[in-house]
Amino acid sequence: MAHDYFVANPNDTSVAIVATTTRTHTGRSGAPQKIALTLANLPKRRDNVGATWPRTPSKIDPQNPPWPAFRGYHEYSFAHATMGHRLPTILGKAIDDVIRTLNERSSEEEIIDLVECIERMEGLMTDLSGNANLRYIVDDGEADVALWNKEIAKYFQGKTFMNAPWLVAEAYKYRRLRECFAVSKYWKEYDVFFRQKCDTFSRSQDAVFELSTRFAEPFQKSPGVTEETKLERERLMFTELAQICLWGNSTDLSLLIDMTEEQIKKLQATGGEQLARTEKNILDNNLPQLWETVKGFKDRGGGRIDFVLDNAGFELYCDFVYADFLIQSGLAREIRFHGKKYPWFVSDVTRKDWNWLLNAMVYGHLFHTASDQELRSLKKLGLRWKEYEKGGIWVYEQHPFWCTGFTYWDLHSEAPDLFLHLSKSDLVIFKGDLNHRKLTYDCQAPASTPFHVAIGPMASAAGAPRVCSLRTIKSDVVVGLGDKGDEIAEKLDKEESGWKISGKYAVVSFSEGRPGEKVRFA
Ligand code: F6P
Ligand code: MG
Repeated sequence: MAHDYFVANPNDTSVAIVATTTRTHTGRSGAPQKIALTLANLPKRRDNVGATWPRTPSKIDPQNPPWPAFRGYHEYSFAHATMGHRLPTILGKAIDDVIRTLNERSSEEEIIDLVECIERMEGLMTDLSGNANLRYIVDDGEADVALWNKEIAKYFQGKTFMNAPWLVAEAYKYRRLRECFAVSKYWKEYDVFFRQKCDTFSRSQDAVFELSTRFAEPFQKSPGVTEETKLERERLMFTELAQICLWGNSTDLSLLIDMTEEQIKKLQATGGEQLARTEKNILDNNLPQLWETVKGFKDRGGGRIDFVLDNAGFELYCDFVYADFLIQSGLAREIRFHGKKYPWFVSDVTRKDWNWLLNAMVYGHLFHTASDQELRSLKKLGLRWKEYEKGGIWVYEQHPFWCTGFTYWDLHSEAPDLFLHLSKSDLVIFKGDLNHRKLTYDCQAPASTPFHVAIGPMASAAGAPRVCSLRTIKSDVVVGLGDKGDEIAEKLDKEESGWKISGKYAVVSFSEGRPGEKVRFA
C-alpha cells in the first residue's frame, strides 16, 4: 500500500521563534510568557508527492525515518507547540527552580558554581528560542557523549531545533540541560525537576491509598477452588493491574504542570468501574494476547520481565503494584527496571526518584490527612518492595542509551550490549508516550500500520524480545489500529480534535519478536 504525505524540506532553516521572556524577581529570565512564531515558507501537508512510503530499509536513518518525520515547524503536529512553546516554558520553570535553590544556599563557592549553571541554562534558552543549530555536546563525562556527537555529525550538521526531527530536537534539549550541570563542580547531580516529581506523588493521595489498602496484604490463594477458577481469577487480576499500570501513564508532569488536584484525581481513578469504562479507549488492545503469553511463564518457574520505565512518582508506584503482582503470582521470577541516568523529559524516573519513592513510602510524612491504617498499608508495601530489591528480585538499571536521540530502531546497532541483554528477557514492557515514539520512529506511519512493522528491528531482528507498549496517547504517532485504522483515526481527527494529545486514549501493543534466536550483529 502506498501512502503519499508531505515531505519535509530538510534544508529549510527559515523558521525563527521570537520569545518574549518575563523577568523574575532576581532579574533573570524565567518562563517565556509569549512565544511568537515567525514561520516563513510554512510547509503545508500535500497529498500526492509521488513518493512511496515507507522508505526502503537501506535509506532509513535518524534524519529520514521510514515515514516522514514530525518536525517543529509542522504546524499540524504537536511538535510545533512543543518546540515553540512547551519546551521554553519547561526550561523557564527549571531556571526558576534553580534560582530557588540558589537563594537557599550559603557557601559562596557553591553559589558561584550554581550561578554558572543558570547562565548556561539561559544560553540554552537563547538557542532554543532563537532556533539555533544543534551543536555538539561538550565532553561533560556522561557515557553518551560519543553517541550524541556521532548522531549530530552524521545526520544533523546545520540542522536546527525546528527543522531536525522533533524526537531528536526534543531529546537534544534535555541533553543540553544535563550538560549545564554535568560540567559544574558541585551540581553535577542536580535535578531541576525533582521538586515537581515528588509533588505529584504527594498530590495523588486518593489513588495512592486506594491501591495500598487493597494490595498491602500479600495475595491469598483461596483454598478449595478449582484450578480453572484460580486461573480465571489470576487472569482478571492480571488484566486489571496491567490497566492500572497503563493509565498510571496519563498523569505526566510535562503536560499537566498546572493540573488541579480534582483533575488529577479524575485521571487516576483506579477502581474496577472506571477501568471498565476506559477499556474501550484502548484502541489497540492486546491485553488478552499479553495474558496468554505471560501465563505460560509460570510453568518454568516464572519469567524474566523487563520494564523500560517512564515517569516517576505515581506512575512508578503503579508499575510497582503491577510488578509486585507478577512476582507474587509466580508469573515472573525476576523483574528488571530500566530508568534514566539523568533528568529526562521532566518526569522520567532516575535512580534518585526510585529511592525517593520507596523511602517516602516507608519513612515519609507526605500525607497529613491519611488514617493510620492507610499509612500502615503504604509502609507495608514499601518494605516488601525494598526486600525485592535487596534480594535481587527487582533490579534497577540505567543504560546510557535510553538518554540518547536514537530511536529503538537503532538499539540493535547503537547499543548492541543492551539489545543482547533485552533479548534474554521473556517480555519487555515499554511504558509511556516517549518510549512508544522511540519504538515507532516517531513518524507519520498510517494508523493501520501493524505494530510489529512500525517497530522495525525491535520486532524483526534475530533475538528481538517480545515487546509490549503500554502507552496513553499523548503525541502524534498512532499505529496498530488494524485494517480499518486509517478510517478510525480520520474519524477521531474530525470528531475529537486533540485526541492524540489528551491522554484519553491508549494502546496495549504487542509484538512476538524472535525470542530464542541467536542475536546477530552486522
Ligand atoms: O513533549 C511531548 C512528549 O515528549 C510526548 O512524548 C508526551 O506528550 C510527553 O512529552 C511525555 O510523555 P511520557 O512521559 O508518557 O513519555
Ligand atoms: Mg516521561
